[in-house]
Amino acid sequence: MELKNRMSRDRARLAYQLRYAARNPERIVPYARRLARDTWLRARARDHVAYYRSVMRSDAARSPYGAVGTADHDRWAAIGRLQFDYLVEHGLRPSHRMLEIGCGNLRAGRLFIEHLDPGNYYGVDISPDILFAAEDTVAAYKLQDRLPHLTPVRDLRLDFLPERHFDVVHAHSVFSHSPITVVDECLAHVGRILAPGGFFDFTFNRTEGQEHHVLREDFYYRTATLVALAERHGLEARFMDDWERGNKHKQSKLRVTAG
Ligand SMILES: C[S@@+](CC[C@H](N)C(=O)[O-])C[C@H]1O[C@@H](n2cnc3c(N)ncnc32)[C@H](O)[C@@H]1O
Repeated sequence: MELKNRMSRDRARLAYQLRYAARNPERIVPYARRLARDTWLRARARDHVAYYRSVMRSDAARSPYGAVGTADHDRWAAIGRLQFDYLVEHGLRPSHRMLEIGCGNLRAGRLFIEHLDPGNYYGVDISPDILFAAEDTVAAYKLQDRLPHLTPVRDLRLDFLPERHFDVVHAHSVFSHSPITVVDECLAHVGRILAPGGFFDFTFNRTEGQEHHVLREDFYYRTATLVALAERHGLEARFMDDWERGNKHKQSKLRVTAG
């Protein structure tokens, strides 16, 4: 855990970045290309969500698997399995109603859809392009009869969803791509749709040093910042140690419940 903290802290420093570039010269050109593309997209977007939607459009055109962070299919399946196994161990039952925020092309969603009773899975995403890929996943894994709901969203106000409805809300690798205003908006509204006894799990890039971002694509937060933000919205947030134990995933996880 300490090593992970130190790595996040170091990543923000220019000296670290220069050393990293010297050690990985093959990454300089792809990084420079990404920097140029993102600068161009950001200049045209009215806010972060519009910007990130265009990043997803550009990435998904190349590969929907790459767009969600796992270009390799086996890795895509493994990261989905990791999320699924964790929630099942934490009591996810077929009768539960689940909302996945930032469902992508259903890396984990396909397993949740298979596990839950028909109609009980709701996936939302800001990117219509990745939702088209999600539909392809539903067809490829023959999940049509499970009737998943897949919906594009403009923001995370969740105001089209019913009150006290979802037993489990899940967001994997979404706040790691979100500025604090987006996290705040979600935490301000998620309490309304949580069923009694329900919880909201989300992962984040953890730093114990300075909070920072890379290209406004990857954001790093202190645990305390997110816990305090949840409290401000009347929610309780708990750090999930067991997610990190024996698990090679680089993000951390918080669980939010009604306070
Ligand atoms: C790295 S992918 C992860 C997808 C999925 N959670 C998974 O684990 O495969 C991040 C996803 O979150 C979506 N996303 C990013 N910001 C979002 C937001 N503010 N609201 C909803 N979806 C968002 C992206 O479009 C993308 O599909």
